[in-house]
Order: sequence, then structure tokens, then C-alpha cells
Amino acid sequence: MALKIGVLISGSGSNLQAIIDEIEAGRLDAEIRVVISSRPDAYGLVRAKEAGIQTVALSKDVYADADMANEAIASELVHAGCEYVVMAGYMRKVTDAILAAFPDRVLNLHPALLPSFKGAHAIADAYEAGVKVTGVTVHFANAEYDKGPIVAQRAVEIAEDDTVETLEAKIHEVEHRLYPQVLQMIAEGRVQVGADRKVHIS
Ligand code: GAR
Repeated sequence: MALKIGVLISGSGSNLQAIIDEIEAGRLDAEIRVVISSRPDAYGLVRAKEAGIQTVALSKDVYADADMANEAIASELVHAGCEYVVMAGYMRKVTDAILAAFPDRVLNLHPALLPSFKGAHAIADAYEAGVKVTGVTVHFANAEYDKGPIVAQRAVEIAEDDTVETLEAKIHEVEHRLYPQVLQMIAEGRVQVGADRKVHIS
């Protein structure tokens, strides 16, 4: 049975598009039940609508009370029948209302090799730091920002002639392949968080 997911976005939604494309190509056994955006002008909402997916757009005012915003999102996700929550460029913090409703079932995509370069500017931060290798991390979210159990990582080399823009393009390319692959492993029941709080893949 297809994995039922809700996708949280804030922006362009290119990772949402990669998930939609992999589902349509028959390589990802998942169904996007709802796309929720923290911004009404996010281009990802257009992508979702074009794919015939139900959308919810939240305004800035909703986040004036973060707990209430999270409760509203959790109830939308539960109502839509989601089994997993997939953050794809979602730039707001998920708090207990969502985490408690989906324990070890909230995934985040981060454009660096965690635990390095946490936060909202990971690509630029890695570039400015002059590291030669950065990458992409998929992890389960918990109450500590960018710190939950890591599911998968891929390295991306920073070449001498890279700019922040070319590095960003390389990272996106890797993300677009990796995130749907991780979701497919979850759909196949191969991903477990162990008693050691590490992710084990069978
Ligand atoms: C992605 O690169 C994702 O890793 C990053 O935002 C981008 C969203 O792109 N997320 C974070 O930085 C989370 N801290 P998209 O909207 O085109 O999918």
C-alpha cells in the first residue's frame, strides 16, 4: 500500500516536485495527501495544485502563536490521513503538537552534512567556511533543531570554481535524487529508529 505523506513547504518546492515526479514515474510508492505551506506565495503551492494535490496555505499571522500553528498543522495532517510528515524546504520549526502526533515520523531535508552547518543558511555557511566537502542530510526531526536521528547522507564536493549558486545547484540535484529514495525505503518498511536512537536500514 502506498505510503501516505503530508509535505510541508515554504518556498520553491523543487523537492516536492521531485517527489511528485518519482510517484508519477512509478518509482516511489507514495501518495501525497496534502501539501501545507507556511507562506501563501510559495511556488510549491502552484506545483501541488498542478498535480491535483490538496493544499493548505498558512499566513505569517498564524505563526504569531507557534504552538497554535503547529496544532492546526497537526490536525490537517491527521485529518488528511498522513502516516509520515515530509519537510521539504519548510523554514518553520516543528514543535510538539506535530512531533507527538507523528513520533519518529517527521522527516527533514537539510542541505549540509549534519551535525555541521545547522540552520537556515547551510549552503552559504559551508561555502564561506571554505570546507571542501559538504552535502545533504535526511533525518527525523525532534525537538532539537537539525539534530534528530540521521537516515541518509550524501557528500557533495566544493570545487575551486564553484560559487554559492553552482554549489546550491549541485546540492539540489543530490536532494532531488536522495529524498525520494529515502521515502521509497520507508514505504518498503526498511527504516527503523532503534532503541539506541540511531536509524537502522534493512
Ligand atoms: C532545500 O535545499 C532544502 O534542503 C532547504 O531548503 C531548500 C528548499 O528547496 N532546507 C533547509 O535549509 C532547512 N533548514 P525547495 O523549496 O526547492 O525544495
